[in-house]
Amino acid sequence: MAKNKNNKTIWSARIKKNTSSLFKKIGSSIDVDKRLYKEDIAGSIAHVEMLFKQKIISFKIKNKIIYGLIKIKNEISKNKFEFKKEFEDIHINIEKRLFQIIGEDAGYIHTARSRNDQIVTDFKIWIKSATKDMDSNLNKIIRTILKVSEKNIYTVMPGFTHLKNAQAISLSHYLLAYVEMFLRDKKRFSNNMINLNENPLGASALAGTSFNIDRNYTSKKLGFKNPTGNSIDTVSDRDFVLDYLYSCSVCSMHISRIAEELIIWSSDAYGLIKLSDKVVTGSSVMPQKKNPDTLEYLRGKSGQIYGNLFSMLTILKGLPLSYFKDLQDDKEIVFKTNDTLVNCLKILDEILNNFSPDKKKMLELANSGYITATDLADYLVKNYSMSFRSAYQKTALIVNFAEKNKKKLDDLKLAELKKIEPRLKEDVLKVFNITNSINSKKSYGGTAFDNIKKMIIKYKKQT
Ligand code: ARG
Repeated sequence: MAKNKNNKTIWSARIKKNTSSLFKKIGSSIDVDKRLYKEDIAGSIAHVEMLFKQKIISFKIKNKIIYGLIKIKNEISKNKFEFKKEFEDIHINIEKRLFQIIGEDAGYIHTARSRNDQIVTDFKIWIKSATKDMDSNLNKIIRTILKVSEKNIYTVMPGFTHLKNAQAISLSHYLLAYVEMFLRDKKRFSNNMINLNENPLGASALAGTSFNIDRNYTSKKLGFKNPTGNSIDTVSDRDFVLDYLYSCSVCSMHISRIAEELIIWSSDAYGLIKLSDKVVTGSSVMPQKKNPDTLEYLRGKSGQIYGNLFSMLTILKGLPLSYFKDLQDDKEIVFKTNDTLVNCLKILDEILNNFSPDKKKMLELANSGYITATDLADYLVKNYSMSFRSAYQKTALIVNFAEKNKKKLDDLKLAELKKIEPRLKEDVLKVFNITNSINSKKSYGGTAFDNIKKMIIKYKKQT
C-alpha cells in the first residue's frame, strides 16, 4: 500500500498516522453519496471547461480530465467501479480513480474549488432534478383523482365536520379538494427552484478563490440561473435542503389525511367504500379480515418524513459558519425522504385506482342526521326576509320536532312544519331533497354539480 501513492489519503503528506479504523468507518459517506456521481461528474466537467476557458489549465489537460471523467461515469453506470470506503466520499473516490486513469494531470482538477462548494453544487443539481420528478409524480396522482372524480360527480355523500354529518356534497367535490392540495404541493416544490437555481460552484472552501474563474460560465453550463452571492453562506447554506424536506413533509401530510379518511370510510362502522383485494391484507388469526394496511402505511410514513425535517433543522441549529462534518448527514436524510415520498405517491395512486364507493350507503348516510337543516334556514332567510340567526333558531325547533317524533326532515308534513312557522308553503319541502341541496351550492368553489364539471376541466389543464 505504501508503494502505491494512489492508495494514500489526499492529506497523507500532512497527517502522518493512519486514521483510526473506527473513524474511517463512521467518517465515510460513500455508501450514501455515490448516488451523486452523475451530478459530481457534470460539475467537474463544467469546472475544468471553465478553467481552460480562463487559461488556468491547458487544452490538453482539460481534455484528458474530461476523457477520464466520462470513462468513470461509464464504469459507475455499468457497475464496474469499485467504491472505496477509505476514500470517504464520492468526490475523492472519483478523483482517485482519475489519477489511475490519466495519471498526475488529474491533480489539476481541484484547482480553484473545494469539496465544500462541490458537494453543495452536486446536491442542488440532484434536488432540482428530484423536484422535477416529484412534479411528474404529483401530476400523475392528480390525473388519477380527476379520473375518479369524473365518474363520481353525481355520487352523493355527507360532508362531515367533526366527523358528524354536516352538509350534502358530491364525492367528486371531496376528491377535488385533494387536487387543490396536490396542486399546492406542486407550487411549493416549484417555488423552491428560485434558491436552487443559484450556483454554489466557485465559492471554494469558504472564501472564494484567487484564480480568475468565471462563475457565470459554470452557472450556464450546469443549468443554474446565476452564481451565489457570498462564498461563506454558500458552503454553509442548507436552506434548500430544508425547503425540500418541508415540501415533502406537507405533501406527506396531505397523503396521510386522505389515507386516514379512506381508512375511516372503509371501516365496518362506516362502510362507505370498498378497497380492492389488491390493496388489503389479511390477518394471521381472523380469517374474515381484510385490513387497509397500505393506507395505514401511508398514514404512518408522514411521521418518518417529519422526523427527517426535524433532524435537519436540529443539525443546522446553532451551527457556526461555514462547513462542518455535521452537514454530511443531509444527503441520507434527503434521499430517504425523497424515496419514501415517491413510494407513498405511487401507493396512493394504486389505491385510488382500486377503491369503489358504496353509493347506496353514502346516500343513506347523507339522508340521515338532518343534513339539510342549513338549507331550510337559508330558505327562510330568502323567502321571509328573516335574519339568518332567527332562521337558524326556527330551523332548530323544526329539527327538535323531527328528532322527538323520530322522523327525518323530508318525512315532515307541511302541516307539522306550519305549527312552527305558519307562513310556510308547499314548496319548502323541496329544500329537504339532498340533490337539490347540493345543486344549490353554486357559489364559486361550491359543491354544485355544474361547478364540479367546470373545475374538472380547469384542473385538467393544470397537469
Ligand atoms: N462529503 C462531504 C459532505 O457531504 C463533502 C464536503 C467535505 N468537506 C470537508 N471539508 N470535509 O459534507
